[in-house]
Amino acid sequence: MRELEVAIAAAQAAGEVLRKGFGRDQNIRYKGEVDLVTEADEEAEQKIKEVLLEAFPTYEILTEESGRLGSEGEGCWIVDPLDGTTNYAHELPIFAASIALEREGEVVLGVVHDPMAQETYVARRGSGATLNGQSIRVSDTDELIQALLATGFPYDRQDMQPTLDLFGRFAVLSQSMRRLGSAALDLCYVAAGRLDGYYERGVWPWDIAAGALILEEAGGKVTDYQGRRLDLEGREVVASNGQLHPLLIRVTRGNHS
Ligand code: IPD
Ligand code: CA
Ligand code: CA
Repeated sequence: MRELEVAIAAAQAAGEVLRKGFGRDQNIRYKGEVDLVTEADEEAEQKIKEVLLEAFPTYEILTEESGRLGSEGEGCWIVDPLDGTTNYAHELPIFAASIALEREGEVVLGVVHDPMAQETYVARRGSGATLNGQSIRVSDTDELIQALLATGFPYDRQDMQPTLDLFGRFAVLSQSMRRLGSAALDLCYVAAGRLDGYYERGVWPWDIAAGALILEEAGGKVTDYQGRRLDLEGREVVASNGQLHPLLIRVTRGNHS
């Protein structure tokens, strides 16, 4: 599949931009009180658009920083050039470039590239998921008390209480909680069995489109907080190794924003 090769090339080219800029002074622009954009975000996005548009000039592109470009024909690329921008700005090396391709409402391929760890996660619908070319599989943890879970907190600080309540519940029910700062990597880590589950409210399609497919192809499950089919525009996600899913949903179901 030519799209997959081009998506991997684009994510890795963006990764190089991010790696080279890492630790350098970044011009930071604020989209909200704590929601920022670095120069590297913009350069990496530019790089991805160049590579994708050159190979597929008629495809639509939805990116975090530029919104929608083009009109939907054969497919729509969903791109986050830098997922983990707060980490990046603080020189914390946990971030990735994320690229998915959506066709007729379904994500058909996903690539997440972590340039610091040199890890590339790839999935094609129906063909499994890989990390640097090796097959990956979710964990087989089936009890919450043995589960390592990750989450994130929204940039929008209004009405934080439900998020904190849910975090508190999972903190006592699970083995431990993490807040790594990259939704795309959270999903890939569940896919690779490093984490057992992840949930978050406030996410956008570009944060989760690629990672959700990678996780499903690694044997995991992704839904909304009610356990319904994941809606990329629905602003919430619960992800797990599959076995833990009913246990996670039992807790997220009661949480209202
Ligand atoms: C953010 C990261 C973070 C998550 C936020 C996302 P950004 O993306 O994925 O982990 O908690 O919801 O918006 O802003 O770094 O691209
Ligand atoms: Ca993001
Ligand atoms: Ca981003």
